[in-house]
Amino acid sequence: MIEITNLRKQYASGFVALDDINLKVNKGEILALLGPNGAGKTTLISIICGIVNPSSGAVTVGGFDIIKNYRQTRSLIGLVPQELTTDAFETPWNNLTFSRGLFGLPKNPQMVEKVLKDLSLWDKKDDRIMTLSGGMKRRLLIGKALVHEPQVLFLDEPTAGVDVSLRQDMWRMVDELRNQGVTIVLTTHYIEEAEAIADRIGVISGGKLLLVEDKKLLMSRMGQKQLKVELMERLDALPTELAERGFMLNEDSLSIVYHYDKDTPEVDIAGLLQSVASAGLGVKDIHTQQSSLEEIFVDLVEDAA
Ligand SMILES: Nc1ncnc2c1ncn2[C@@H]1O[C@H](COP(=O)(O)OP(=O)(O)O)[C@@H](O)[C@H]1O
Ligand SMILES: [Mg+2]
Repeated sequence: MIEITNLRKQYASGFVALDDINLKVNKGEILALLGPNGAGKTTLISIICGIVNPSSGAVTVGGFDIIKNYRQTRSLIGLVPQELTTDAFETPWNNLTFSRGLFGLPKNPQMVEKVLKDLSLWDKKDDRIMTLSGGMKRRLLIGKALVHEPQVLFLDEPTAGVDVSLRQDMWRMVDELRNQGVTIVLTTHYIEEAEAIADRIGVISGGKLLLVEDKKLLMSRMGQKQLKVELMERLDALPTELAERGFMLNEDSLSIVYHYDKDTPEVDIAGLLQSVASAGLGVKDIHTQQSSLEEIFVDLVEDAA
């Protein structure tokens, strides 16, 4: 549905915001672009939507080139921008009705009604937009993106600064759109959000796409479990027999850890602890923990820096 090849963006200031981005997004999938502030997420989305010009490289949406076939690609795309922009004096009803017109679509009051109801804005349909709360304005922006029935929907930090109930409404809505076959790209710096709704996760930092991977694969490939044994006394060097069993000495010299893949069916924890005892080490406490998507993400971004 989206194909990005060797995309690069250097702003007029000389700053390189995107550096050789290559990415394919399949029809009907939800891709979360995860990255810290300034990573280039908004720049990438803005280029695909035709708002910012690329410096080099190519992007197609639905097989159409975003520059040569701007009208075709734009008609396939819905964008919910990061910044709130709405017409203060208009009403939600007129705003959505007019939006369809902008895309050359025939009037469809039933569609406008459905979108307003889905977003819990129906009782505000005739109020001036400036009287709506921030959360309601954000819902309306989503409505604007949905009302022309896009095949590809971009959500740029859709839940930054919104309340919990709107965040959950949003996740529900994304799920419903996925069932309808809409392709969704969302950016977020909330890891829970990517974990909750994405099929694939792309990690972007400093203008580089560090990786794109199936969410479950990513978590099982990079996600490890560890058994941590806290010792009674500081240990200067790890006994050879423990090193041979796969233990490592922590930097604090007060604990040793054993890493294992979280899908390993049977780890001989009893045997591991037995070897610790045989080596004559006093054990203060033991725990196991599993690395979260958050730790994976932090590791990746740190490694790239
Ligand atoms: N018009 C511009 N001119 C110069 N630099 C820009 C411009 N827009 C964005 N940038 C810079 O490009 C980088 C990426 O910005 P952006 O795409 O908004 O990141 P993100 O959405 O991931 O926070 C930032 O360092 C930002 O300051
Ligand atoms: Mg942004």
